[in-house]
Amino acid sequence: MRKNILISAALSAMALAAVPAFAAGPGDNIKQGKSLGEAGYEWNKGDGEDAEALKAKPDLKNGRDVYEVCAACHLPEGWGLTDGTFPQLAGQHYKVIIKQLSDIRAKNRDNPTMYPFALPSQIGGPQSIADVAGYIQSLKMNPKPGLGDGKDLAHGEKLYKENCVRCHGEHGEGDNEKFYPRLEAQHYNYLLRQYQWIKEGKRRNANPDMVKQIQSFTDRDTKAVLDYVSRIKPPKDKVGKVGWKNPDFK
Ligand code: HEC
Ligand code: HEC
Repeated sequence: MRKNILISAALSAMALAAVPAFAAGPGDNIKQGKSLGEAGYEWNKGDGEDAEALKAKPDLKNGRDVYEVCAACHLPEGWGLTDGTFPQLAGQHYKVIIKQLSDIRAKNRDNPTMYPFALPSQIGGPQSIADVAGYIQSLKMNPKPGLGDGKDLAHGEKLYKENCVRCHGEHGEGDNEKFYPRLEAQHYNYLLRQYQWIKEGKRRNANPDMVKQIQSFTDRDTKAVLDYVSRIKPPKDKVGKVGWKNPDFK
């Protein structure tokens, strides 16, 4: 079965690449000497491949073909893994996918595990970025994302409403036009890792306003707010059925 072949390819890729990807600890950005809150870059400058990809008209048929390499890790359904190793991509906004993929290719966002598979030599140029983003956006979301322990949700809700709604929206739905990611129903452990990296300055494409805002968050606050948002249910028409298999990859 193609899926098994893809997954074993992904696992051997991870064996090669995952160690540096996940071994980085909180001390790293201190070693880099980055001061918190001073991003040292202009967020979403739009002067890279993303600008060209955003002008392209996505061809979903080619998007499906490009997605084959992505499916090895993000799974044919785009649902990722509930342990957060691989994020869910299904349901993410078109422009967010374009920006993140371009940032990863430009090394504005470190992703050594995925980087070799995302290069132009593997998947093509800006048109392919648009194509695969269009395909991913069309996939229904995972009905059972990975969650936190559920013990501090009232605190999480309060923090979310006070601090995150203005960018990520009332339901964690994000904003395609503004490149704000959808957070609802994303795997909790993935959110936790990204949040930590954004806070520490390790993720160099983060929005500096967000970086500033979350500096005062304690571990308790962080877990509570992300547990809360990972549990928000997206609109029904965006979510797949439990056990759905993507027929494009039979
Ligand atoms: C070898 C495994 C692997 C492959 C193949 C792979 N990815 Fe990824 N991808 C990852 C990992 C791991 C992350 C999360 C990295 C991190 O924690 O920052 C990720 C993150 C992403 C993100 C960011 C998601 C977000 O919420 O910000 C996008 C978009 C993405 N991948 C798209 C793709 C596309 C499109 C392809 C195919 C061209 C692809 N990936 C192939 C492993 C992979
Ligand atoms: C000023 C707007 C803004 C605010 C306020 C904000 N964010 Fe964000 N957030 C963003 C943007 C923009 C990104 C994507 C950055 C990029 O381009 O890579 C992001 C990314 C994230 C990510 C990574 C998502 C992924 O798929 O990789 C998480 C998790 C997150 N935000 C959580 C939060 C939480 C929780 C709060 C409230 C405590 C918050 N953010 C407040 C703008 C904001």
